[in-house]
Amino acid sequence: MSSDFDFGGAVPPWGRSAAEYEAFFALSNVSPSARILDCGGGPSSFTAEWSSNERYVVAADPIYRFSTRDFLADFNRTAAQMLAGMRKARERFKWDYYGSPEGVVQRRRDVLTAFMADFQAATRSGRYVSACLPELPFRSESFDLVLCSHLLFLYSAEFDSAMHLCSLREMLRVGREVRVFPLLDMDGKPSAHLGSTIQLLRMSTHVELVPLSFEFRSGDSNMLRLTH
Ligand SMILES: C[S@@+](CC[C@H](N)C(=O)[O-])C[C@H]1O[C@@H](n2cnc3c(N)ncnc32)[C@H](O)[C@@H]1O
Repeated sequence: MSSDFDFGGAVPPWGRSAAEYEAFFALSNVSPSARILDCGGGPSSFTAEWSSNERYVVAADPIYRFSTRDFLADFNRTAAQMLAGMRKARERFKWDYYGSPEGVVQRRRDVLTAFMADFQAATRSGRYVSACLPELPFRSESFDLVLCSHLLFLYSAEFDSAMHLCSLREMLRVGREVRVFPLLDMDGKPSAHLGSTIQLLRMSTHVELVPLSFEFRSGDSNMLRLTH
């Protein structure tokens, strides 16, 4: 069966806002002094928005080696595909938060604008680090909390189980706690890698599935929380 969201094996940049991250990762009780890493942050505006509120946030993503011109071209291509996919698979989503497929795209465009302004700003000072899982260029325990949104488990066809396990272990090396969302794959099915990954992580890590009040794709309302 062909997927409604087929990006030809690539992981497209498609960015979410701080309000969305706060819902995906239940961030309301995170300490104001927490050092946070957004792993695979891409064109999300989370880092820009939280940094502007005096929070310590660093984002890591391979696309940070590019210029903002590349981000815009990628966005327009991705937006057309996402829009077509969401229209086709409309019944698999709950629309109370975003309203419509067009509403999602508009929000992503606003997020991209906020991200690009911060990415270009002279004051960004090391907030955006070009890095590619499963290796991160940070010392052990550099962060209190590592977030990973819309990368692992979602792109289950693009990354194998070994990549998932190595990436999560690397995030646990650089951070004291790791939170991952979503846990369903691109077709809205439970990721084929989740069960085996959790089983192996449980040998050395405290693993929790945390229910969320946020749900956009039907059934996609749990976050994975890992602590040492
Ligand atoms: C769908 S976007 C999600 C962006 C952001 N986390 C969000 O939810 O708004 C996925 C991001 O993962 C990045 N990515 C792909 N492969 C990666 C890897 N091996 N390590 C780190 N990031 C990666 C992509 O460049 C892209 O920016």
